[in-house]
Amino acid sequence: MYDFKIEAADTATMYRDLASALEGLVTGEPDAIANMANASALIYETLPDVNWVGFYRNVGDELVLGPFQGRPACIRIKFGEGVCGVAAKTRQVQRVEDVHAFPGHIACDAASASEIVLPLIKDGELLGVLDIDSPKKARFSEEDEAGCVKLAEILSRVL
Ligand code: SME
Repeated sequence: MYDFKIEAADTATMYRDLASALEGLVTGEPDAIANMANASALIYETLPDVNWVGFYRNVGDELVLGPFQGRPACIRIKFGEGVCGVAAKTRQVQRVEDVHAFPGHIACDAASASEIVLPLIKDGELLGVLDIDSPKKARFSEEDEAGCVKLAEILSRVL
């Protein structure tokens, strides 16, 4: 069992410590499923006010559910559909303050109110996306986005 004590003194410090814990967890481990499983557990237990953290993998230009923490979720998402599908299609981070106002949002957990989805890209190839959901509206700030982009960079190297 790994026991990371990440204090949320301030957001920047919290993301710095989270990135370093994630780096330690995944570095040297070549198994992508193990890395996605540990990453979703670490992020879920570290970030306040999140109800779902997990991965959708790019399988033949369709997103397929990967390791996650939270309630059971929809399994397949087409590129361009929902927040995850738009992140996959555009390869741009999607930071959505109110998911109910996002056209085509896929409501896997009715409790989700805001979310951030980060494309995971290695050598020009889209590996999948990291999806983080919150029951609080506008949970993710620009600072959260910067911190999550760092996490996605670490993950892209080991998936
Ligand atoms: N919210 C996502 C669907 C996945 S679940 O939230 C886990 C979306 O609209 O892409």
